[in-house]
Amino acid sequence: MDRIVIHGGERLMGSVSISGAKNAALPIIVSSLLTEGWNLFHNVPDLADITTIKKMLTSLGAECEGAGSLGVNAGSIKNCEASYDLVKTMRASILVLGPLVAREGRARVSLPGGCAIGARPVNLHLKALREMGAEIELRDGYVDARVSRLRGAKIYFDISTVTGTENIMMAATLADGTTILENAAREPEVVNLARVLTDMGAKISGAGTDRIVIEGVTSLRPVEATIIPDRIEAGTFMIAAGITGGEVKILNCDPSHLEPLIAKLTETGMIIDSIPGGLHVRGGEKIMSVDVKTLPYPGFPTDLQAQMIAMMTVGSGISVITETVFENRFMHVNELMRMGADIIIEGNSAVIKGMRKLSGAPVMATDLRASASLILAGLVAEGKTEVSRVYHIDRGYERIEKKLSSLGARIERIKD
Ligand code: UD1
Repeated sequence: MDRIVIHGGERLMGSVSISGAKNAALPIIVSSLLTEGWNLFHNVPDLADITTIKKMLTSLGAECEGAGSLGVNAGSIKNCEASYDLVKTMRASILVLGPLVAREGRARVSLPGGCAIGARPVNLHLKALREMGAEIELRDGYVDARVSRLRGAKIYFDISTVTGTENIMMAATLADGTTILENAAREPEVVNLARVLTDMGAKISGAGTDRIVIEGVTSLRPVEATIIPDRIEAGTFMIAAGITGGEVKILNCDPSHLEPLIAKLTETGMIIDSIPGGLHVRGGEKIMSVDVKTLPYPGFPTDLQAQMIAMMTVGSGISVITETVFENRFMHVNELMRMGADIIIEGNSAVIKGMRKLSGAPVMATDLRASASLILAGLVAEGKTEVSRVYHIDRGYERIEKKLSSLGARIERIKD
C-alpha cells in the first residue's frame, strides 16, 4: 500500500489548477443510463471513484471510453444488478438505482452498509421510489426494485440528502407525470446534474432551491457536458495556503460555490480575493481560531470539516467545530492528537485548543477527507509525517502530492 511522506515547514506559494468535481461527475456519468447513444463528459477527474463508477456502468452493459473527456454509451443495458463488490468500495454506486428502475423497470443493487463516518442509510432513496410506485424488497443484502413505469409523486425528504435528491431526480425524469421534491439538497453538484439532465431533454425546475419539480418525459437524448470544478479540492488547497501562511492562486474554481469557506477563512485572518478564473488566497502570520458548524449547502460543508480542524490545531485560541451532517466524522482527531494536537470531543463537537506546535508522526488515513486533514497537518508539523492507507485520498484528490509539491511542499508518495 502506498504512503505519503511529508516534511513540514514550507510555505506554499504559486498556483494550482482545480480538477472536476468528483461528486458532480459521479451522478452525471450515471445519468448516461437514462439515454441511448454516446454521451461525452469533459473535465472528468482522474480518481479511483471514477474508475469504480466506470466499472459499474460497464458491468451493466454500457461502454466507457476515454478519461478526462469520457464517452459513455448505455445503448444496451444487459444487466440490472449492481454487485456488492463494487458498491462496498463506493457508496455512491447507489446512484444507479433510480436510473435503472426508471429505464428498465427493475434493478437489484447491493445495500451499501455502514461506513467510517456514520451509518449512512439509504432509506430516503427507497421511500421516495416506493412513493413513485416501485415495489421494493430487501433480500440477501440487496435492494430489489420493480415497477412497470414510475409515476410522479410529491416527495418530502426528512433530511436533506445529496445522492438521495440526485437519485430521485434522475428517476423522475422518465416517470409518468410530475414529481415534486421538497427539502431537496441544494448543492452545486445537484444543480450541475439538473443542467445535464435538462440538456438531455428532461423538464426540471427549481434545482438549487429546496423544491425541485420534474415533469416526466418518455425518453432522453445523449449530451455533451462539462463537470463543474471541485469545491472541496479547491477548499482543501485554500486551507493548505492558510495553514502554511502561504500565498496561492486557486485556478479553475468557482468562488460562488465556496462562500461559506471564504467567510470562515477570512475570519481566521486570511486575505482572499477573486481573480479571473479563481481566487488569490494569502495566509497571515497568525491564524485566528474560529467556530464552525457543518450544514447542508449553502452552509459550511462537512467535507471540509476535517481540514478545518487541522488548521485550528495551530490557531491562536480555542475553536469549536460542530458536525451536524454525519454522526461519526471525527476519526481524524485521534490521529491529529498523535501529532501533538489538543482536541476534546464533546458529543458532536470538537473543542480544539490552538497554539500547538505539531510534530510529524506516522498516521493512518481513515476516510477520504480525514486523510486530507492529516496531509495538511503534515505540512506544518515539525519533521516527518507519514500517512498510510492513502488509497482513501486517491478516491477524491487527483495527484494531491504532485499539486502540493508544485506549490513548494516537501511531499512524496512512497510506493510499496
Ligand atoms: C454526499 C457526498 C458526500 C458528502 C455528503 C454531505 C456524494 C457522492 N457524496 O454524500 O461527499 O459528505 O453528501 O454533503 O455526493 N441520510 C439518511 N437517509 C438517507 C440518505 C441520507 O438518513 O436515505 C442521512 C445521512 O446518513 C447523513 C445525511 O442524511 O447523515 C446527509 O447525507 P447525504 O446528503 O445523503 O450524503 P451522501 O449523498 O451519501
